[in-house]
Amino acid sequence: MKATITVLPGDGIGPEVTSQAVEVLSKVASKFGHEFAFNEALMGGCAIDQTGSALPDETIRTAESSDAILLGAVGGPKWSDPTAKVRPEDGLLKIRKHFDLFANLRPVKAYPALAQHTPLRPDLLENVDMLFVRELTGGIYFGPRQEQGDGDSAYDTELYTTPEVERVAHVAFRAAQGRRGKLASVDKANVMASMRLWRRTVVRVHEDYQDVALEHVLVDACAMYLMTRPASFDVLVAPNMFGDILSDEASVLAGSLGMLPSASLGSAKFGLYEPIHGSAPDIAGQGKANPTGTILSAALLLRYSLGLEQEAQAVERAVEAALASGARTADIAPRGGSFTSTTEFTQTILGAL
Ligand code: IPM
Ligand code: MG
Repeated sequence: MKATITVLPGDGIGPEVTSQAVEVLSKVASKFGHEFAFNEALMGGCAIDQTGSALPDETIRTAESSDAILLGAVGGPKWSDPTAKVRPEDGLLKIRKHFDLFANLRPVKAYPALAQHTPLRPDLLENVDMLFVRELTGGIYFGPRQEQGDGDSAYDTELYTTPEVERVAHVAFRAAQGRRGKLASVDKANVMASMRLWRRTVVRVHEDYQDVALEHVLVDACAMYLMTRPASFDVLVAPNMFGDILSDEASVLAGSLGMLPSASLGSAKFGLYEPIHGSAPDIAGQGKANPTGTILSAALLLRYSLGLEQEAQAVERAVEAALASGARTADIAPRGGSFTSTTEFTQTILGAL
């Protein structure tokens, strides 16, 4: 098949990890007889530097004429002045909103080979395999706010509408049907009105999915259960900010934040794919970045936007093979020991492919 992919390298380690994922996608194309065209565009701090905007119109146009977006990461100390009028992160929030990418899928697996990199007992990590479905275009990230405040106060508002909760709940229930049939809905219904709306909407949507076992988990308890009984989770559905926080927490189970991919989807096949980690400016340009999260995001791109399941699985198996062969980027290497550089790690994956 022919496909066009917009690549947004972004800032910090973004360019290092997206270039590796593009290599993997190119290899997939030649191995399976596809034609992928890659169009690079600006978003984030680099876009602010060159155009004054975190998400230039040209980037939107490039993305609109493509099948999917592959993104690295945005942000860095250079642009983090609290009084700045425009920030790199604005670009990310705007592009999610522009394409109405309301469902952010974040699969979390514990890799037995990396068990010693987690602070948890190995027995707790057995069979850890969960999928976060994070609501991505609503909630406190997009609610009414007073940006600079009056000097002594500022606010952000958690606001959800029934249709916003319904559509992400449908995605989560359907995902659970295709997995182990369990859904945990995360909220704070004991305190927040918006979260009571969230819960009653999820309960109503559940009527269409009686084959799925639903539990409601308060976000604070969920944070604890992710560490005490991680294997009990199958699919979790969470409001935007709770999903942001809990998925970083859950990355501990995988051994490193650098391991985790994500897919941001709307109601069509088009999607945005990015690792869940940030731009890690402290290690940028040193060959220390772990490209796994971005390469696994490319696998999700193959699966969800291009419908290439076999190819997606081939990439996922190649990542597992690279880990099994002992290749370790800096974040997952034995402390003080030697590590595989970003590009060497990708070469191992390409070899396995
Ligand atoms: C994420 C990131 C973003 C978010 C930031 C960079 C705006 O933390 O994708 O998890 O909060 O959504
Ligand atoms: Mg985050």
